[in-house]
Amino acid sequence: MSSGQRDAGVSNPAHVAIIMDGNGRWAQMRGLPRQEGHRRGLEALRRTVRNASDLGIAVLTLYSFSTENWRRPHAEVSFLMGLLKHFVEKDLAELSAANVQVRIIGSRLDLAPDLRRLVEHAETRTRGNTGLILAIAFNYGSRDEIVRAARQLAADAAAGRIDPAAIDDAALTARLDTHDLPDPELVIRTSGETRISNFLLWQAAYAEFVFTPVMWPDFDRAAFEDALAQYRQRERRFGGVAAPPDRSVDVA
Ligand code: FPP
Repeated sequence: MSSGQRDAGVSNPAHVAIIMDGNGRWAQMRGLPRQEGHRRGLEALRRTVRNASDLGIAVLTLYSFSTENWRRPHAEVSFLMGLLKHFVEKDLAELSAANVQVRIIGSRLDLAPDLRRLVEHAETRTRGNTGLILAIAFNYGSRDEIVRAARQLAADAAAGRIDPAAIDDAALTARLDTHDLPDPELVIRTSGETRISNFLLWQAAYAEFVFTPVMWPDFDRAAFEDALAQYRQRERRFGGVAAPPDRSVDVA
């Protein structure tokens, strides 16, 4: 076991990924339209980006729109598309000034051309930033991402660029949207639901999970710190065994 693994559980995770759930229920509980829940969800997202930067988190991935979310009513889908556009247009300058590097993971093909151009612009403009990496998972589904990577591998094999026998974990990882990001050590899901919902299935193979009953619009610094504290108490073994107690003091 490496010393890094023995130390794990002591420090904060470098990569935190969050399934931001409960906007609709938050609104419903208050007799408000679901859209108001999403609007307040965007406020929570902004707050969480600031907190992550403050807490020294290196990568924050936020599940903002899944490949399954297209099944929602057209008006809600349009609203969420508009919210991403609004967020990038309004916050990009501030994010960039805060040294945040913006990434969008997920399939871009189904996005409207103006939205696609906008997210590409956000990535280009912040590419040189060295602070928090903010990965927005939009039109993201882990199975879709893995299928796209598999298709690329098949094309590379057919073109003779890779020997099928040489396809390994690293070859697939290199073709994922997250190819240059570390795996998340902590996945948080809000709203009390305890599912992974097609989020980072490959990357979260060894992640710790924290499920909190807090609805996403209410997710604040205290809730974030509580999830990090739970993570620090976990013993991460990566399929190995617990580190044996340090016997050096017993040896006479
Ligand atoms: C889940 O709550 C939330 C979403 C599907 C959307 C997440 C969006 C935001 C946090 C706003 C910021 C958005 C962008 C695009 C930057 P839900 O609607 O499934 O809630 P429910 O389970 O209570 O109905």
